[in-house]
Amino acid sequence: SRLPALLCTMPKAELHLHIEGSLEPELIFRLAERNGVTLPYASVEALRAAYAFTDLQSFLDIYYAGASVLLQEADFFDMAWAYLEKAAAENIVHAELFFDPQTHTDRGVPIDVVIRGLARAVERARTELGVSAALILCFLRHLSEAAAFGTLEAALPWREHFIGVGLDSSELGHPPSKFERVFARCRELGLHVVAHAGEEGPPAYIHEALDLLHSERIDHGVRCLEDPALVQRLAASRMPLTVCPLSNIKLCVFDSLAGHNLPALLDAGLCAMVNSDDPAYFGGYLNQNLVETFAALPQLGARQAWQLASNSFEASFADAAEKARWQ
Ligand code: HPA
Ligand code: ZN
Repeated sequence: SRLPALLCTMPKAELHLHIEGSLEPELIFRLAERNGVTLPYASVEALRAAYAFTDLQSFLDIYYAGASVLLQEADFFDMAWAYLEKAAAENIVHAELFFDPQTHTDRGVPIDVVIRGLARAVERARTELGVSAALILCFLRHLSEAAAFGTLEAALPWREHFIGVGLDSSELGHPPSKFERVFARCRELGLHVVAHAGEEGPPAYIHEALDLLHSERIDHGVRCLEDPALVQRLAASRMPLTVCPLSNIKLCVFDSLAGHNLPALLDAGLCAMVNSDDPAYFGGYLNQNLVETFAALPQLGARQAWQLASNSFEASFADAAEKARWQ
């Protein structure tokens, strides 16, 4: 079949990628050595062996531990540059990268160190790789509303370096409503707004993300199928769902790729596309997500491949002229 080649070579956008989740074990060890950080793992192999997750929280615990080696501006640059080089090689022409400032500022890393390092890689990707990239600042939802407001305030001097805000980390017990006022302020500031909802959380969290946060995309959103009225609403409004198949398997949201609901989401007319979420932890970057998902689900073919790529551009925050060029 020529399907894998089509999936890998087609131009596409990546809209759900946590840059801290692109940190490969090899780079974690290199940065640990460079910064004199001692890791609780003896080797790259021992660290990778710990990547056996049972749910979102079991992943987040290791993901935040991995990020502990990021201290200097150069560390943030190196991490983002490594991802953007991979993206270019996968024919990703546009990438919107999530970053989690609180994971770093709570360890004493100044927010300008984080943003400067990432922004430098994003800028260089445009000129040297031909990849248009942008940053989306995520609030950690297990932390307080006050902490999110403080992070927003601290980031505002670097407002030009991020296009929007998102909401990530532990979903259950931290509904979108907790951040209604923070998101209202972000919208006043002209920032794009997105939120993780319906990964582990119920369809009610997707409704809240739409009604209370006015989210412009739903990250994951795969649990929407439990609520037919919600599916209607998402389809009628062309609300994008940034689906992450390998992530869903590794975090036990679905038992197997063969049982993933991506075909049903597309059949329902939803604006879904495939993304990699945390590729260093979940076993593959965007093209591997596509190839493995299509291999496991024979009802997906060239038509769906084209639809996913088209949806990825439609759902992006690139300007209209750029979108016209890709679509
Ligand atoms: N869900 C919530 N928070 C996250 C994720 C995710 O898939 N990846 C990194 N932070
Ligand atoms: Zn995510």
